[in-house]
Amino acid sequence: MKLGAYYYPEAWPVEQWPRDLANLRRLGMEFVHLGEFAWALLEPSEGRFDFAWLDRAIQLAADHALPVVLCTPSATPPVWLTEAHPEVLLVDAAGRRQRHGTRQHACWSTETYRRHVARIVGALGARYGRDARICGWQLDNELSHYGKEPCFCDACQRKFQAWLGQRYGTIDALNRDWGNSFWSQLYQRFDQVRLPNPAELVAQVNPHQQLDAQRWFADEAADYLRGQAALLRAPAGDRQWITTNYMHRFAATNPALNGRDFDLVAWTIYPVHGAANRGPLGFRMGDAAEFSFAADFIRAINGRAGIMELQPGQVNWGQVNPQPQPGAVRLWIMRAFAAGSEFVCTYRFRQPRAGAELYHYGLVGPDGVTPTLGGEQFAQAARELAALRAAAPGDAPAPAHYQARRAALLYDWESRWDIDNHKQNQEWDTYEHLLKYHRALKRAGAPVDVITDAKDFAAYPFLVAPAHQLVDAELVARWHRYAENGGHLVLTCRTGQKDRRGQLWEAPWAGPILALIGAKIEFYDTLPAPNVGHLRVGAATFAWSTWAEVLAPDDRTTVVATHADQFYAGRAAAVTRQLGRGTVTYIGVDSRDGALEARLIREVYERASVATEDFADGFLVDWRDGCWIATNFHHEPQPAPIPPGAKILLGERVVPPAGVSVWR
Ligand code: GAL
Ligand code: ZN
Repeated sequence: MKLGAYYYPEAWPVEQWPRDLANLRRLGMEFVHLGEFAWALLEPSEGRFDFAWLDRAIQLAADHALPVVLCTPSATPPVWLTEAHPEVLLVDAAGRRQRHGTRQHACWSTETYRRHVARIVGALGARYGRDARICGWQLDNELSHYGKEPCFCDACQRKFQAWLGQRYGTIDALNRDWGNSFWSQLYQRFDQVRLPNPAELVAQVNPHQQLDAQRWFADEAADYLRGQAALLRAPAGDRQWITTNYMHRFAATNPALNGRDFDLVAWTIYPVHGAANRGPLGFRMGDAAEFSFAADFIRAINGRAGIMELQPGQVNWGQVNPQPQPGAVRLWIMRAFAAGSEFVCTYRFRQPRAGAELYHYGLVGPDGVTPTLGGEQFAQAARELAALRAAAPGDAPAPAHYQARRAALLYDWESRWDIDNHKQNQEWDTYEHLLKYHRALKRAGAPVDVITDAKDFAAYPFLVAPAHQLVDAELVARWHRYAENGGHLVLTCRTGQKDRRGQLWEAPWAGPILALIGAKIEFYDTLPAPNVGHLRVGAATFAWSTWAEVLAPDDRTTVVATHADQFYAGRAAAVTRQLGRGTVTYIGVDSRDGALEARLIREVYERASVATEDFADGFLVDWRDGCWIATNFHHEPQPAPIPPGAKILLGERVVPPAGVSVWR
């Protein structure tokens, strides 16, 4: 795994470039990231290019043995473009056209914008494709409108209508699937349909229209990136990879849609920006599950992954921007390593002295030369990774006891949209629900791939599908076969309630999964604060408030958790059964702190006779390149499972908070 950093030659005096690149290399960085916002400098007026400054920066990088990740600058159109073609500017929900002056303000659905983007991308490809100094390409930058999506311009409205036409064929089919006889919503033609916009609607948005609008937006974004990738594919040849940098938690675009277009998938993460996270040091170390879930998701898309942006210290954009815990930056780098990353790049090398991101740390401070605490940790990690490369045996197969725990966590993007569109309890958090299961699996010491429906899960001994609200007969049949063939399947509350259109079944609640889970779901409940419900598993008690279901098990189904209070005290909340050679467990509750999920997941492994660990929440241990890597996000020291004769390559047997140990 290699480390690198973002550098903006365009922001600094040219005399400083050689010094900066030399320092970047001296800190142990092995590549440099350039140009993602440089369109105005690369094409100062339409069709007139200036590559001289970039040529010089790339050559200096090469002189310092720093391969370049080169970017397409489409996140930041120059002012001449938006002035001449204001129709490329995003229209917000209130109908206001956005203006020049920040980033991600252009609408990539307009033909005009795509044409201008194609010209600059084509020119970059022609000049730097097959250039041995360039190792890879990043398309755009965190493709989004940073929460202002979707754009409501005419081009977007027309593209949405065309997309609906493709999907439904006839307007009658759309009316049927959207339930449009209700509230006289019946349309006569596709061109009467608009992107649902609460600002122009008096009452509730049609939920099926909302879901389709989200699908369209994600498809359109993926298509735009695919178009850029296609322009670079030939010039890139086989030595330059192509990717983009996704925000891992951002829901409006879906990284899995570009899995085939990219050689590897990259993402950005800023673990510390003021969120409390878990435990007393969570605000300084970030949330281990969030980091780890994202890494396991991005890597599983096509098998190759990198972190394009990792914070080197304090950031500037949180509500509160605390200092990371000393050691946390190195902890994150090592967690990325353990999760299979090919590289970790940091945003950014130098702290800016001007512009929108003042107060954002770099590897070096505002004087341009003095390493920050995070800069020193990057340097330390670079030395340690080099030592590991020399000492570790490489890609030795993972030990059998670890392989035996292998789990897939099924992440259904559309179910997340659909549940979040209508939560039924505003305290419910779909993403947190998914994280609870990831935490539970990591506490058991399992290697996890976070996969999407499209991927085959037959080879994983354990499969967890949390809150998979939208299902179809084909998926339920695959789940069935999976268990029959020996897999251990875990489904959780809010699964199977709707079809892919987002309609409820004309059947008992969650009808299609009832035969599979061996129980009926009689009803669900949610509790307003300060009420808390309780559940019993053996002698232990667990708390819930967001969502709980009351189950009626069949004869051959075993109850594994019971309601301890409310008017349904004594009724089943979670059940399990044998199915063929495997098992199916249904956990109909979302607990308050994830402790219930951790307990029930461990029991699934026990019933399958697969030994697990019992790690503290936030203590993660994984295998890579022939060694074990333990990373401790917990606020207390944790014992690493280092067997007696093992060779410790890094750290100690007890791993302090923010500490790392590596052994083989
Ligand atoms: C990222 C973004 C970077 C920079 C950074 C600041 O989300 O891609 O361009 O703004 O945040 O933390
Ligand atoms: Zn638009």
